[in-house]
Amino acid sequence: MNIKSLLAKRVQGLKPSPIRKLVPIMRTPGMISFGGGYPNAQTFAFTSVDVVFKSGRRFTIQDKAIDLACQYGPTDASPDLKPHIVRWHADKDGVSLGTEQIQVLTGAQEGLHVMAYLFLNNEDSVIMSEPTYSGTLGAFRAFTERFIPVPLDAQGMVTADLERILAKMASAGERLPKFIYDIPNGHNPAGVSLSLERRKHLLEIASRYDLLILEDDPYQLIQLEDREPLPTLQALDHEGRVVRLDSFSKIFAPGLRLGYASGPAEVIGFFQLYKQGLNLHTSAMDQALLAGFLANHTHTEFRTLIRENIGLYRRNRDAVLAAAQKHLPADVRYNVPEAGLFIWFELPAGFDAERMVETDGVELGILMVPGAGFSMTGGLKNYVRASFSMINLEQVEEGMIRFARMIERERGRIG
Ligand SMILES: Cc1ncc(COP(=O)(O)O)c(C=O)c1O
Repeated sequence: MNIKSLLAKRVQGLKPSPIRKLVPIMRTPGMISFGGGYPNAQTFAFTSVDVVFKSGRRFTIQDKAIDLACQYGPTDASPDLKPHIVRWHADKDGVSLGTEQIQVLTGAQEGLHVMAYLFLNNEDSVIMSEPTYSGTLGAFRAFTERFIPVPLDAQGMVTADLERILAKMASAGERLPKFIYDIPNGHNPAGVSLSLERRKHLLEIASRYDLLILEDDPYQLIQLEDREPLPTLQALDHEGRVVRLDSFSKIFAPGLRLGYASGPAEVIGFFQLYKQGLNLHTSAMDQALLAGFLANHTHTEFRTLIRENIGLYRRNRDAVLAAAQKHLPADVRYNVPEAGLFIWFELPAGFDAERMVETDGVELGILMVPGAGFSMTGGLKNYVRASFSMINLEQVEEGMIRFARMIERERGRIG
């Protein structure tokens, strides 16, 4: 792919920081450095950080490691963490990444912003499923409002529609979108996962129109049926057109804000360049905590912990589905999510979920997220997203009874 030709105008002038590019050199053993403006490690407030994991394993960040965790570090990744990410990615996805193909992020959310910054001019468009993650709309809207919606069903993005939309744009001589964005597993908010057939079809279409793909996959390992996830778009791609965002939020700890982008070295190079101007690098202390976890747990142990935690999500999902089946009227439709944390309820046409949540939600004591926030077209007013991640099992039944009451009140208003 000709990445340079796709870059937004604002990126053409990005230059490497003259100081940042010296960081790896500064760490050469024996170097007498007058470079950089780093504070002296002797001045840092920390002597050590003792870490105890729920697995019972513990480790201490101390001596040279504590200085490194408190100090400025390289933009792409902390040297201690990077080899772990390479191995984690190879094990998990069967994709071996070169060291220049990884950029550690302050959450995958940062990757959404960076991708938009790098590629989207005001007049550019992006193609994505309707509904889509509200945080993506938030990140992209700073750069463009031109979103091309593709419908989504139980198998994820309807790629036959994607194909039709692009064919129509191409034959009308319209400017094609800069990239296709998708959430292939446990879609937020729709709860669905992209089928293998559609993953292949999506790649074939991207190849035909020479488009980049942004694969945003924070729910990949939240497989509620205890199945192996399907191959990632990146793993199925042979043309280097997938930029992938991995997140440790749902499998480790979201407050640490850790994720990584991987993909064509050229794109990742621009991620780095932009991050130099944005925040220099992701917290070295947070990266040290993840590196320490990965050093003290095998991948099999990590995957087992994730699987055990999913048991909680599965119980919650099943409880919500059972209560929904029992209490909701037949004209409310919803999917059974096989991955992720969300159930997406479709209410009868004409219902206004925002009004329902705002007028009845507080009074009845029930909160769900109105669908409109996930729409790029001002639609989805009759949808709500219910998350089952934090619910209390004893309250599920009562929650669905209140939801049913809220639905009947709205039905009464519509008449
Ligand atoms: C689809 C999707 N992408 C990205 C993110 C952001 O993830 P992170 O916590 O890694 O920034 C979320 C968080 O909920 C999400 O649902």
